Amino acid sequence: MKSILLAALLLCASSAWSQQPIVIKFSHVVAANTPKGQAAERFKQLVDERSGGRVKVEVYANSQLYKDKEELEALQIGAVQMLAPSISKFGPLGLNAFEVLDLPYIFANRTVLRRVIDGDVGQRLMKLLEPKGMIGLAYWDNGFKQMSANKPLHLPADFKGLKMRIKSSKVLDAQMRALGALPQVLAFSEVYQALQTGVVDGAENSSPNLLTQKFYEVQKYVALSNHGYDGYAVIVNKKFWEGLPADLRAIMEKAMKEASDYENAQSLIENEEAIEKIRASGKTQVYSLTAAETAAWRRALLPVHKSMESRIGKEWIEAIYKESAAAGYKF
Ligand code: LMR
Repeated sequence: MKSILLAALLLCASSAWSQQPIVIKFSHVVAANTPKGQAAERFKQLVDERSGGRVKVEVYANSQLYKDKEELEALQIGAVQMLAPSISKFGPLGLNAFEVLDLPYIFANRTVLRRVIDGDVGQRLMKLLEPKGMIGLAYWDNGFKQMSANKPLHLPADFKGLKMRIKSSKVLDAQMRALGALPQVLAFSEVYQALQTGVVDGAENSSPNLLTQKFYEVQKYVALSNHGYDGYAVIVNKKFWEGLPADLRAIMEKAMKEASDYENAQSLIENEEAIEKIRASGKTQVYSLTAAETAAWRRALLPVHKSMESRIGKEWIEAIYKESAAAGYKF
């Protein structure tokens, strides 16, 4: 009798166990009301619904769980399952080729950017993640970056001696040095305070981040420079992903596709809207560069392509040059 009871108990326990949902912890560093934050929520909603409760996605925004570097480590050891870091943060993992997307003024326009990301270059870059225990599921847009500081930045000479926050990309380091600034790597969660207290004088970021992190409140000037791209790769822990039942993986792939379409559309809209909101706040001066100023930035920054060639790999740079040239762009 005792052994039957025990067996029944064990059976209950094991069926309760098998009904436990698979939990996906999706960690990111930006605000929930950004294109990335909203797309992560949309993915969660679609997967929770369509998996009939077999999968539960938990989204942790605003570096609530991990900061930039830690979140990548957490993904590799399986402490979280999904992230969407800025591509500029892959260099320290030895994935230097991703930094090709950081090169200033490499994309002729947004159409070329999408062609590169959605095409062969984008796919081959994603493959580089696998030996690192990660799989790339999608690219999410974050728009072109704007430069901010407490003084107006019109010409490269205006950057001289300024401490500028960058992400952990050697290309961004070279970019700031080419402008005469002193780059400083800081985690995203530390940027507001660093700007506020003067640890750094300025930064570059997309306008939704400038807005939602309130960077514009601690920067007197925002130059609409669009000098470089910022995008995300949605990545998962490889072992976790490959161990999922095939039907659930299919549900997630479809949900990811829909969340990605949403994110990319939303990023376009919100990059525009954020600039208008920042302008309307009256807390900072937002200005465009003249054609002559842009030409001066380009002259200072294009040599970075050559100086970073051996780090990134020439073929990656040339692949993007080809697409930009086909759109009539001259380097
Ligand atoms: C940054 O660190 O500036 C951005 O990459 C943050 C983000 O994820 O948009």
